[in-house]
Amino acid sequence: MSTAGTNIAMQGQVSPAGQPLLSVRGVKTYYGNIIALKGVDMDVHEGEIVTLIGANGAGKSTLMMTIFGNPRAREGKITYAGQDITKMATHEIARMSIAQSPEGRRIFPRMTVFENLQMGASLHNMAHFDQDLERVCTLFPRLKERLQQRGGTLSGGEQQMLAIARALMSRPKLLLLDEPSLGLAPLIVKQIFEIIKELNEKDGMTVFLVEQNAYHALKLAHRGYVMVTGNITMSGTGKELLENPQVRAAYLEGGHH
Ligand SMILES: Nc1ncnc2c1ncn2[C@@H]1O[C@H](COP(=O)(O)OP(=O)(O)OP(=O)(O)O)[C@@H](O)[C@H]1O
Ligand SMILES: [Mg+2]
Repeated sequence: MSTAGTNIAMQGQVSPAGQPLLSVRGVKTYYGNIIALKGVDMDVHEGEIVTLIGANGAGKSTLMMTIFGNPRAREGKITYAGQDITKMATHEIARMSIAQSPEGRRIFPRMTVFENLQMGASLHNMAHFDQDLERVCTLFPRLKERLQQRGGTLSGGEQQMLAIARALMSRPKLLLLDEPSLGLAPLIVKQIFEIIKELNEKDGMTVFLVEQNAYHALKLAHRGYVMVTGNITMSGTGKELLENPQVRAAYLEGGHH
């Protein structure tokens, strides 16, 4: 790979026209004195699936969390639908039709599946609750059978489904997903990626997907970014990145599934 901070120019690196739904400019995030994001630029346009790939510790989750305001960007600017959200409180950002399914399936373990789903919806008015519940139960039939089971007793894959379903309950326009495939069996990974595709194609949901499963993520995404130690080093269409020798060597060798 390149040395950190070096930008690799890519042929055909085009962003869609128009104002992006989400724009990240020059964002720097620190944990104490340690810099985790070193000046990140990224755009997500309405209707796109954009993926962010990179090795462990690159800063992918930090970027997703910084978009949500925790941790906060120390420098730079984040705008959503034309509004500056850089300094907005996390709960205010959630009200702007952005939802996230964080890494590590942070569901509420003592609450039932049903209660977890209610928590996802509670920020908004409850008028659509039954309809939205029905919808996530159709997307994830496993959850439907387990509505009264405590979240903490679900299997890993079921907890991941619950984390995504909970995010969907708020009817987000922009869905941020951090490693939805982590630790899941290939068949479940396939199902989850199909659901993401369906939400994007049928509901027009915009998706920002952080993934270590680079092959699946780049196949699914319209565009992708590669992050190396707090810097974006490459960007392009999913196809361009899949075919790029450097991406292949760093993230795709050793086979895919
Ligand atoms: N709360 C924290 N306090 C201190 N350092 C942190 C904290 N969270 C993350 N870091 C550090 O910031 C860097 C980026 O971490 P981050 O979790 O964003 O990486 P990542 O790309 O999501 O990695 P992974 O693929 O393993 O999930 C790492 O070096 C990590 O150790
Ligand atoms: Mg992470």
